[in-house]
Amino acid sequence: MKKFLAVVLALALVVALGASAFADIKVAFSQIGQESDWRTANTDSIKGTIEAHEGWELVYDDAQQKQENQIKALRNFITQGVDYILFTGVVSTGWDEVLAEVNEAEIPLILVDRMPDCADKIDYAAAFGGDFVEEGRRQVAWAGEYLKSIGRGDEEVCVAIMEGTTGADAQVGRTEGNLAALKEYPNMKLVAQQSGNFTRTEGQAVMESWLKSVDKIDVLIVQNDDMGLGAIDAIKAAGKVPGKDIIIVGCDSVKAAFEAIVAGEMNCTVECTPLYGPFVEKTIEALEAGETFEKTIVHPEEGVYDCVGGIDLGTVTSVLAADVIDSRVY
Ligand code: AHR
Repeated sequence: MKKFLAVVLALALVVALGASAFADIKVAFSQIGQESDWRTANTDSIKGTIEAHEGWELVYDDAQQKQENQIKALRNFITQGVDYILFTGVVSTGWDEVLAEVNEAEIPLILVDRMPDCADKIDYAAAFGGDFVEEGRRQVAWAGEYLKSIGRGDEEVCVAIMEGTTGADAQVGRTEGNLAALKEYPNMKLVAQQSGNFTRTEGQAVMESWLKSVDKIDVLIVQNDDMGLGAIDAIKAAGKVPGKDIIIVGCDSVKAAFEAIVAGEMNCTVECTPLYGPFVEKTIEALEAGETFEKTIVHPEEGVYDCVGGIDLGTVTSVLAADVIDSRVY
């Protein structure tokens, strides 16, 4: 009996030691806030993946759109001695000092979504984010090509650009892409440009004010779908028909935008994936196994979705089908 108990105890000890060997990886994530459907999906993807991973513990901070909160969170992660830091910045500047501190603490840094402008000067283990300049280019190119396809390629059309949070990597890049592409379509004239802060409420408010102050808007480029959905409400309230009186091109490809496109109230959305959980998981597993990565930013998406088809942007343009909409989880 004694011998049997000793064997049971020894086995329990082995199991406990084994479990503790896997239970000591703390993965910290500094998230910007919850401004859009995209952001919610991004949080769920990363949080869900880490929490579901055996032996990994999530240390999460929601900065509520404030850079100072993110800086505090990063310093907190360092003090806690976490094993990995996942980071996306609400704006692209002002991170040099705190990210240098992360480097000094030798905590592997994984950049997700938006890149800090000091990325070249710091060490990071891996980086995954949207190609924001290209997304902005695709938005305007889609509108320009669509106008041609409906016989309005030579007509002077008035374009409004609703930008995301001022200074965010996604706003800076998409604006650069939007403006560069406008040069390719001389018939598209920029008549308004303002931030809607990536939120539905502010998108609605900016559109309401434009509808009162801007003579004519034929094309609305919104740097995320949430602002576009807010703008649709404002356009309807003003007695106009979204998607017809005003052509609307969004970005993100969230399910609500797909539904608006199918309903004819929006015309196109350019993809920007929020689903970074699986990328993060593979990266940390590889780093734990001793692998290293090249210092390069991986851009995982290339889709554009509409309801018309036949628009060639040199990328994957898909006419929305029911199964694509149904399978979208965000
Ligand atoms: O950084 C990605 C952008 O941030 C998404 O387009 C937007 O919806 C989010 O708020």
